[in-house]
Amino acid sequence: MRRGAIVSLIAIAVVVAAITTAIAYFIDWLPEQASEERVGIDFVLWLTIAICIFVFAVVAAISIYAGFKFRVRPDDDSDGPPIHGHTGIEIVWTAVPTILVTIIAIASAVVLARNDRVSGDNPLTVEVTAQQFAWSFRYPEDGDVTSPNLYLPVDRSAKLVLQARDVIHSFWVPEFGQKQDAVPGIVTTLIVTPTKTGEYRIICTELCGLGHGLMRSKAVVVSEGEFATWLRQEGQDGEGGEGAGDDGEEGEGEAPDAEQLFVANCGSCHSFTEAGTSGTIGPGLDGLDTDPADAERQIRQGGGGMPPFEGRLSDAEIESLVQYLTGSRG
Ligand code: CUA
Repeated sequence: MRRGAIVSLIAIAVVVAAITTAIAYFIDWLPEQASEERVGIDFVLWLTIAICIFVFAVVAAISIYAGFKFRVRPDDDSDGPPIHGHTGIEIVWTAVPTILVTIIAIASAVVLARNDRVSGDNPLTVEVTAQQFAWSFRYPEDGDVTSPNLYLPVDRSAKLVLQARDVIHSFWVPEFGQKQDAVPGIVTTLIVTPTKTGEYRIICTELCGLGHGLMRSKAVVVSEGEFATWLRQEGQDGEGGEGAGDDGEEGEGEAPDAEQLFVANCGSCHSFTEAGTSGTIGPGLDGLDTDPADAERQIRQGGGGMPPFEGRLSDAEIESLVQYLTGSRG
């Protein structure tokens, strides 16, 4: 190969690499980094991007150079010379990508293993329940407080224990990086160690039905003190909501809070002014003129695109929702 050709190839590769590096570096592609786990995930991402830029620059340099150098002249009707391949080049273009992919695989495995470990000796356990089309979060170590939003204390590892009630969903907060499926019948876990206070979006990233795009909640990261205050307040509200009652901490006979129930279970699909929800998957429920028995049947059995809530909610909770919606308060 002539020296001029090598110099041209390197020059083109450097220009292409500089442009793509600038695009990768100067555009703010990523969400705010708000968890310990994101550090490793971002490292693997940038490592992969660097390798991609290298490969792209090499391929682009050879393509651009060959396009100009070996262009067919308008009056040239001859066949090209018969070529039999080049064993040396074939070995190189097999070995180099193998090495690069292996580097990515090792880096990913190390980061995944590290992100599965809690940091500190006091992780917070939160049970995450996914269902069409809502999230709920339960704090079993803290009086079974249940909330439609995920409250987390900053700088403390949280072990999320995920379950799904109907189909596969997937838990993701872009700022935390970590992502995990919630699968019916099995329990999955995810470690998140928030490093910044603030409010972040929880997004379902598994297509789970009509309301998938609306299956959002909030992750609220607060100081340890604010978290303790929040737990105390939620506990006093007698909230606890669904799934409670095993340990009798709620007090028998106490009516479940209908508005909370509605927001957690129905709000992502149905609009209802009183509860401040604005879902559009199902019909709006303002001024509902339905017989309470019909409303109860609809909630229990579902139908018309709505999932059944029999077995998901207790009888008292269903009753409370029916009263809340039909205005037949006893
Ligand atoms: Cu749940 Cu998508």
